[in-house]
Amino acid sequence: MFKGVIFDLDGVITDTAEYHYLAWQALGEKIGITFDRAFNENLKGVDRMESLRRILALGGKENDYSNEEKEALATEKNDLYQTFIDKVTPADLLPGIPKLLNDLQDHKIAIGLASASKNAPKILKNLGILAEFDTIVDPASLKHGKPAPDIFIQAAKQLNLEIKDAIGVEDAYSGIESIKAAHMFAVGVGDAETLKKADYVVSSTKDLTYDLLVKIWK
Ligand code: BG6
Ligand code: MG
Repeated sequence: MFKGVIFDLDGVITDTAEYHYLAWQALGEKIGITFDRAFNENLKGVDRMESLRRILALGGKENDYSNEEKEALATEKNDLYQTFIDKVTPADLLPGIPKLLNDLQDHKIAIGLASASKNAPKILKNLGILAEFDTIVDPASLKHGKPAPDIFIQAAKQLNLEIKDAIGVEDAYSGIESIKAAHMFAVGVGDAETLKKADYVVSSTKDLTYDLLVKIWK
């Protein structure tokens, strides 16, 4: 049996992936770069500065800003993003997630968070589930973000688990890459084609039950 489940946050536990999109879009409009949801898929799971780099590259503007100006742009995006997450409440937990967390605890399965977001502790607190997590990886402590395996390896380490005993759950292409690069069992939430490197994909968190995890682990 698996001994731990390591979750991504944005797009798995709550729909903050949409808020990231809206905040980047607003910044993009201001600097004359428009992008759609398809491009936004490339930003999911990717840390703040790398997301900005990808947006600037899309607009052919990667050399138009100094590092200081880029920091200011990223801060501006984050300030807007934070106005969205300030309003997050337990009602924003995605369907099935509260029951899954309860069931994992009842079965003494460890719960970890492997999110690239520096806002993660605040979001978990607003969702009312901060205490359910046995560990949270600090993304600032890592050399390489997703798709590198570092964050899932670190989460397993913080839970005192071997990689082979853990399940990673992700909604992003870069996130599934990260879990598989760590050689961990990967469950994707979302589009089966985008997430085809996962060991199993559900289309919605509604399907992400304890019983399902037991079944697919066998
Ligand atoms: C990830 C999101 O969880 O966190 C990315 O999928 C986001 O879209 C990244 O860029 C960093 O988040 P934050 O909150 O530190 O800007
Ligand atoms: Mg995500």
